[in-house]
Amino acid sequence: MHCYYLETFGCQMNENDSRTMAGLLESSGYQEAETKEQADIIVVNTCCVRQSAENRINGFIGSLKKIKTMNPGAIIAVCGCMVQKEGSVQRFLRTARHIDILIGTFAISKLPLYIAEKLAGVKETIIDVAEGEKSYLPLTESYPVKRSSDSRAQVSIIYGCDNFCSYCIVPYVRGREKSRDPQIILSEISSLVNDGCREIQLLGQNVNSYGRDLADNWSFARLLQEMSSIPNLARIRYMTSHPKDFSRELVDTIAGLPKVCRHFHLPLQAGCDKTLSAMNRGYNCDYYLQLINYIRRVFPDCAITSDLIVGFPGETDEDFAATLDFVSACKFDAAYTFIYSQRSGTPAAEIPDQINEEIKKERIQRLIAMQEPISLAINCKLIGRHLPVLVEGKSKNNPDMYSGRTESNKIVNFPGDSDMTGQFIDIEIVSAKTWNLLGSAVSPSKGRG
Ligand code: SAH
Ligand code: SF4
Ligand code: F3S
Repeated sequence: MHCYYLETFGCQMNENDSRTMAGLLESSGYQEAETKEQADIIVVNTCCVRQSAENRINGFIGSLKKIKTMNPGAIIAVCGCMVQKEGSVQRFLRTARHIDILIGTFAISKLPLYIAEKLAGVKETIIDVAEGEKSYLPLTESYPVKRSSDSRAQVSIIYGCDNFCSYCIVPYVRGREKSRDPQIILSEISSLVNDGCREIQLLGQNVNSYGRDLADNWSFARLLQEMSSIPNLARIRYMTSHPKDFSRELVDTIAGLPKVCRHFHLPLQAGCDKTLSAMNRGYNCDYYLQLINYIRRVFPDCAITSDLIVGFPGETDEDFAATLDFVSACKFDAAYTFIYSQRSGTPAAEIPDQINEEIKKERIQRLIAMQEPISLAINCKLIGRHLPVLVEGKSKNNPDMYSGRTESNKIVNFPGDSDMTGQFIDIEIVSAKTWNLLGSAVSPSKGRG
């Protein structure tokens, strides 16, 4: 019996691909190993969105050399976005000769086939990286997916991205937008719910584009409507939305769908019109502010979170000051902040005026120092409130506590017991931190969170 170990880097799309690969491997008869040392098949699913991710992954792949020395029969497969990046295969072949299989984002369904070929004695490195717009159709079909958590699940609805933000590598490594068949999505969700799942998160680089490439007027709004009628499904989340495509009609549709969580993750990226335009984001600050104001009028209790990039090429002190002011006016519940990372092959990488690392580090520190008190102040306002929380299990950081999320996606830690896992429990918020809340259980809550 061969055992596999799968290490995943990157975003939820990659985690989703890894669950599919695990499902495919298990249906081919392989079993999951607890550690990479115990495995004879090691799969690394990679990300290349920032250089920091690539550095970590290169370190991890380097560390596998030792395993190959100890167990020369072990098969090492590297897949995902980093492999799909132009020039990567040649670099891996030069610098990481212990890799046996290199497959791009479009070829993950072929992993069991390539492993079988290697087990049958194929000597050379197996390479399958789609070039240009080639894509493997089966990616949108239904595959066996290995799931771990039963109360929450993620379901991909659209692959790829057509937006070409000038800093971003994703459209080059994930290809063009491709919606999955709505009937397959809905039946996958129904069967997850039948198995006890209460919360579904729909995944895509830009979920708002869902259905544009499908017949019969499918849209993201319609998918939310259809999902809403699935009995016993309590919460619907989605990730990620592009502000330029988040229409007021969609806000109004969500207003009529109580299962759709009142949490809006709308990556702003920069709060300066000049930078937004250079980023090719397709909106300006005024549009963004009007959008979040509208959302807050319709949902006064909602949470709004964002992604921000500092140090985009050409960003002057004044541009950055504008971002600080604008972000402070947006009053985000939380913001994920990133230092701009030059990705070769993207238009922004060609802009001559790249910002030096010291300035970027100083800017991110200033941005975090400005945002954190805002997040804390918003969270402190929740103290004393009773909020329904879907309990996920023991807290990762404190084994004496249980943990779950509010509808607004905030993590709440509280003293609990194992019976609560998978249940909606009303929690009284007793104290607040920047990134999470502390609470105590009031009573099992009725119905939806
Ligand atoms: N499609 C999603 C997710 C993209 S990756 C979206 O548009 O939001 C997640 C985040 O990584 C982005 O929102 C952006 O803030 C950040 N990011 C992408 N490329 C980057 C780069 N080259 N340098 C730094 N951050 C980047
Ligand atoms: Fe990248 Fe922009 Fe697409 Fe998001 S929307 S994946 S940031 S190109
Ligand atoms: Fe990384 Fe690929 Fe996701 S580059 S962020 S794993 S789409």
